Amino acid sequence: MTSATMVAADDVEVLHWWTSGGEAAALNVLKQDLEGQGIGWTDMPVAGGGGEQAMTVLRARVTAGNAPTAVQGLGFDILDWGKEGALADLNEVAAKEGWDEVVPDALKAFAKVDGKWVSAPVNVHSTNWVWANKSVLDANGIAVPTSWEDFTAALETLKAAGITPIAHGGQAWQEATVFDAVAMSVLGPDGYKAAFVDLDEATLGSDAMKEAFDRMAVIRANVDDNFSGRDWNLATAMVINGEAGFQMMGDWAKGEFLNAGKVPGEDFLCFRFPGTADQVTFNADQFMMFDQGGPVSAEQAALASAILSPSFQSAFNVVKGSVPARTDVSDADFDACGKQGMKDLAAAAASGNLFGSMAHGHAAPASVKNAIYDVVTAHFNGEFDSETAVDELVDAVSIAK
Ligand code: BGC
Repeated sequence: MTSATMVAADDVEVLHWWTSGGEAAALNVLKQDLEGQGIGWTDMPVAGGGGEQAMTVLRARVTAGNAPTAVQGLGFDILDWGKEGALADLNEVAAKEGWDEVVPDALKAFAKVDGKWVSAPVNVHSTNWVWANKSVLDANGIAVPTSWEDFTAALETLKAAGITPIAHGGQAWQEATVFDAVAMSVLGPDGYKAAFVDLDEATLGSDAMKEAFDRMAVIRANVDDNFSGRDWNLATAMVINGEAGFQMMGDWAKGEFLNAGKVPGEDFLCFRFPGTADQVTFNADQFMMFDQGGPVSAEQAALASAILSPSFQSAFNVVKGSVPARTDVSDADFDACGKQGMKDLAAAAASGNLFGSMAHGHAAPASVKNAIYDVVTAHFNGEFDSETAVDELVDAVSIAK
């Protein structure tokens, strides 16, 4: 039996990549919400952080004429499907519920195609965070680093103490996630935008970009020997259990700490990557509603409406580690990191410091993103020195764009 024949008339089939402990806990909030409305859930999980594998499965399903009802999507991928005409029109539910008034412009830019809502924003994540084990830092006399020099000093201290300084999973998307923050810290907001949004050759090939690669090499020198291929949540576990001091990762990592019963400020610390305190590199998970032939189905409309409801936005994001996709949700139920995330997002949006994450498909289309991944990961694995990486980056982006 194919999964399509297993879906009852009033079920939703949801394709997503939320398979870690923290992600699954958050997904349950959504499942239960729908089940409470009598809508069944057919789960279509595709493991693989960042969603690359999920997007490959999606392409195959759509090509076979068997698109799932709802699909987790990011940034430019959503726009691509929308422009292909594959997504249902959610304008009726959006108008009824006033989405235009409460969803920030930065998200609308990826949720609407030609004036039509085609996906339902679930959250806002951001990638320029660092996660730290508090007792490891305390035991080694390390204060939260606010500059690159402080950070590298902390790495040296941990290394000397026999602790893995940085927990990292060697997968291209994870290296790119680290690169988001490192590049922002060196290039600054204007340079980040010039390089990854405008794809400006001079910035991609600049000395500052070389410095960003040099910093990536320092990070590479501070990960353990078994980093290659490790899943991101296993890297988070190394920080949770005190094997490692820091992880540079999006705030989905917080979901893992919470799922392990850890408390921010007591067991773990969250802070912006040194040198990016005012900036937020964001990505937003959304559920694209695939056109099932005819108008949007009742189940799709119910799912979209459940996702955008203020109570769901709070309940889900408290567990997921992200912050709400609406500007009118109270921060009362969020922990210290969540409250900071909401404050940082609003401040960054107001001061022109909010930028789409390159690593998570919100700066440039997938072809460019993948070209950058290849160079960043090859450099991380020692195939290129920093100077070569810069040249390769310029070439790869100019071919891909
Ligand atoms: C998604 C998150 C997810 C993370 C790791 C990101 O691209 O936005 O929701 O938790 O990948 O799987």
